[in-house]
Amino acid sequence: MAERVYFFDTTLRDGEQTPGVSLNQEEKVEIALRLEQLGIDVIEAGFAAASPGDAEAVRAVAKAVTKPMVVSLARANKADIDAVVAALSDVDNTGIHVFIATSPIHREKKLLMTKEQVVEQAVECVSYAAKHFSHVEFSCEDATRTELEFLAEVTEKVIEAGATVINLPDTVGYTTPEEYIKMFTYVREHAKGAENVRFSCHCHDDLGMAVSNSIAAVQAGVTQVEGCVNGIGERAGNVALEEVAALLETRKDYYQKETGINLKEIAKTSKLISRITGISIPPNKAVVGHNAFAHSSGIHQDGVIKDKSTYEIMTPESVGFLETKLVLGKLSGRNALKQRYEELGYSIGAEELKEVFKKYKELADRKKEIFDEDIIALLETQPSKSNVNVYTFKDVSLQVLPNNKDYRAFVNIENNQDGTVIEGVGEGNGPVDAIYKGIDQGLNIDVELIDYTIKSISKGKDSIGEVHVKIKHGESLYQGRAINVDIIFASASAYIDAINRFVSTQQNVEIVNK
Ligand code: KIV
Ligand code: ZN
Repeated sequence: MAERVYFFDTTLRDGEQTPGVSLNQEEKVEIALRLEQLGIDVIEAGFAAASPGDAEAVRAVAKAVTKPMVVSLARANKADIDAVVAALSDVDNTGIHVFIATSPIHREKKLLMTKEQVVEQAVECVSYAAKHFSHVEFSCEDATRTELEFLAEVTEKVIEAGATVINLPDTVGYTTPEEYIKMFTYVREHAKGAENVRFSCHCHDDLGMAVSNSIAAVQAGVTQVEGCVNGIGERAGNVALEEVAALLETRKDYYQKETGINLKEIAKTSKLISRITGISIPPNKAVVGHNAFAHSSGIHQDGVIKDKSTYEIMTPESVGFLETKLVLGKLSGRNALKQRYEELGYSIGAEELKEVFKKYKELADRKKEIFDEDIIALLETQPSKSNVNVYTFKDVSLQVLPNNKDYRAFVNIENNQDGTVIEGVGEGNGPVDAIYKGIDQGLNIDVELIDYTIKSISKGKDSIGEVHVKIKHGESLYQGRAINVDIIFASASAYIDAINRFVSTQQNVEIVNK
């Protein structure tokens, strides 16, 4: 029988380390539930010691999913491990992921520790963690720049102390497939007890080698692959798990491995993560890019018409891309909408259906044709219930100034806490600039806009616009998103969404309304 490769998804931890990405608890749970549908075996839900909010989110994820194991990251110290114990130890099917750096660069320049001290701390922490969890993953950070003998020594000692999974990450995306194979082979041959634990790979994509290196690790006998859907993560990102999964499936003849991944869930998972994180998928991205199955040259089109296998090694349907349909009309009822969601693989509760149906009706009044993408966007951009949604954008009137170039915006924002309407006025070199300045003035808030993107959700000139923004306050970044047929309204609402996220993290900061 083909050997099973386990998939460990760290979108909610390493993925959240993508600059500007910050997920609230509700978003983490939504992503985790989707990862469960995808068939992920282990979900790294966060870093419990980072803040009480992170710990709560880790716990919420663990309670929300049933099949995948949920782990939290911890540095090799007692306080971090205690934070994970408090968040997870009484929840079924959970574990811990402890790490310490092992390479000479990290030992000498970052940790200021000797080899002996690193081993001692690793062993002490793994033994402590093993008292609380039967699943203890241990990572040698920067393993690929660590001396092989030392890597084997640390591995042997932490296995003895109770580690059940050994992860040897390519933290800085530096290794090559041959080198990575050599490393795993050496450690598995030289560390006593290696045959009793699961080995894991964790590759970053700094040199574009993450998929090649992960697959090399699998060829060296590693049975767990760590990464993020869409390849998000620190710097150039982590390995894109959907690429590894599609590769193992498409070339099963060669690799002879089994996975628990339900490939048909890939497209949906990828789109949801892109929408929630605000990180767009490049059109030429393998497996999930918009052009991944497009054939544009005449020769290719001719081949595909004659037989798809001429230029398609996998079908779009096999990774969950459905032919987009024109759905439902203005007169369609709630049941028809529910049925279409179910056909698309979304289960929707009565309360949520009620809210989405209201939005659907509003949309149907403004847009002639409604496509699958439109109703998916309506569902996936429901306002957050866990956020402190202090403000709602109400409306704006715009004036072109006498120089015929600049705009003046008069904005109204509702304060949901006391029902008052706040007015603001701003001038800028375009309508969005003027509105954002009006919002800043009305809320007396000082934030910097550092990113703004807009894209259409489906086809047609009357398509819904989806806006993502990132704002900065001090050193912190906050993202916001909104959709609307009226892109000016979507722009204002996305900005307010980001401000609400900023406000919700500033419980002690008084926002002065004028
Ligand atoms: O890249 C890395 O080394 C990590 C560890 C914390 C596992 O993310
Ligand atoms: Zn990493």
